[in-house]
Amino acid sequence: MINLKLDYSNILNFTSKEEIKSYQDEIKSHYKSVIDKTGAGNDFLGWASLPDDISEDLIKSIKEDAEKIKAKAKVFVVIGIGGSYLGARAVIEALSHNFNHLLQEREFPYIVYAGQNIGEEYLSDLIEVLDKTDYALTVISKSGTTTEPAIAFRALKNHLENKYGKKEAQERIIAITDASKGALRQLSTEENYKTYIVPDDVGGRYSVLTPVGLLPIAVAGFDIQQLVDGAKTMKAHCESTMNIDENPVAAYAAARNILYNQGKQTEIMVNYQPNLYYMTEWWKQLYGESEGKENKGIFPAGVSNTTDLHSMGQYIQEGLRTIFETVISVENASKTFTVPDDDANLDGLNYLAGKRLQEVNKMAELGTTLAHIDGGVPNLKISVDRINENTLGQLIYFYEMACAISGYILDVNPFDQPGVEAYKKNMFALLGKPGFEKETEEIRKKL
Ligand code: PA5
Repeated sequence: MINLKLDYSNILNFTSKEEIKSYQDEIKSHYKSVIDKTGAGNDFLGWASLPDDISEDLIKSIKEDAEKIKAKAKVFVVIGIGGSYLGARAVIEALSHNFNHLLQEREFPYIVYAGQNIGEEYLSDLIEVLDKTDYALTVISKSGTTTEPAIAFRALKNHLENKYGKKEAQERIIAITDASKGALRQLSTEENYKTYIVPDDVGGRYSVLTPVGLLPIAVAGFDIQQLVDGAKTMKAHCESTMNIDENPVAAYAAARNILYNQGKQTEIMVNYQPNLYYMTEWWKQLYGESEGKENKGIFPAGVSNTTDLHSMGQYIQEGLRTIFETVISVENASKTFTVPDDDANLDGLNYLAGKRLQEVNKMAELGTTLAHIDGGVPNLKISVDRINENTLGQLIYFYEMACAISGYILDVNPFDQPGVEAYKKNMFALLGKPGFEKETEEIRKKL
């Protein structure tokens, strides 16, 4: 049974139940076209059946690799960008100790990321640290040709070979890429790297439940079977009902499109747990890249509260009324901390003494929600009982399916990203990449 709920009662000042339910037929029909693979982008619908398609052998193999890495590496570098990076990071950070980087004793390798930027200091600092640490890496690129991870991989491959010698370096590299295409596939074959495949019909931002996400998550010490099982549960729920009253996927897709059509063009994903920050980043990519095209689409933004109540809170309360919020509300904390009593009570906080911090956080959440609704910001609430692998698996499939359906309601192809090419073309032209001579000439005229 799913333990994820969507509460849309706090948008009912802005719309009605009837309007939400008027989307019912359309949602069922879009869901059917995802499952029957008849909608736009239908060659990229492999993610929809993915939770059931992950074989026991694949899970076993990934777990075995994670064990091998654990035996020889204190740090595991995950090289990738966009969909080849954010899903793994979202799950790992959501499940990790908040001060993992400071723990003296760690059972599993510490995960670091590379290839998600081209910062010179970032890569230099990383190499400085890796000089003194035993490490292994995975390089993840579906296309096998993305510039940012390719640069990071070239640098770290070189570093690994100098540090351990060619043969041992090869043992410390796992590539995750297309089955046959791309430079990374070719390189992996020549260098004899262990590889995993990104299925042809799964696009980057929908790939967290493939080895793209599963390998780094397993190396970090988390239960990938539970993650996949959570996604299976949400998938089975979708199969059993697409009724708006019974399925949060259907309700979320309908609600956000209604709000968008009322001019609420920005959706802010709100969390009250700092380690969900990267879940929001993953969601931003999933929705931004899927819906933002043809001059349409909700702009996905994120805040982490209560931190951001002291920065973005002012805008949300009183700025342009073009926003709505979706709160990820976690019912239970996995650790207990109560506010201590203090005899002097000079800070006046004794009224909170003995209260769980979770309770204080919950009141901040409720108070903020009520204030924002009063301020004209509709509020959707996604509740989960706690954060663990199973819940995250449910949440991932929930967001993916809702994104596909929502994109179809918007009448765009949620599985392509033609706009991403524009910056690449200019960058290649500016850098003088062979094959871009004409573009180089054109861009120089603009400078
Ligand atoms: O969702 C997507 O398709 C993109 O964000 C890609 O994941 C990203 O551009 C990285 O691509 P690749 O895995 O081919 O290196």
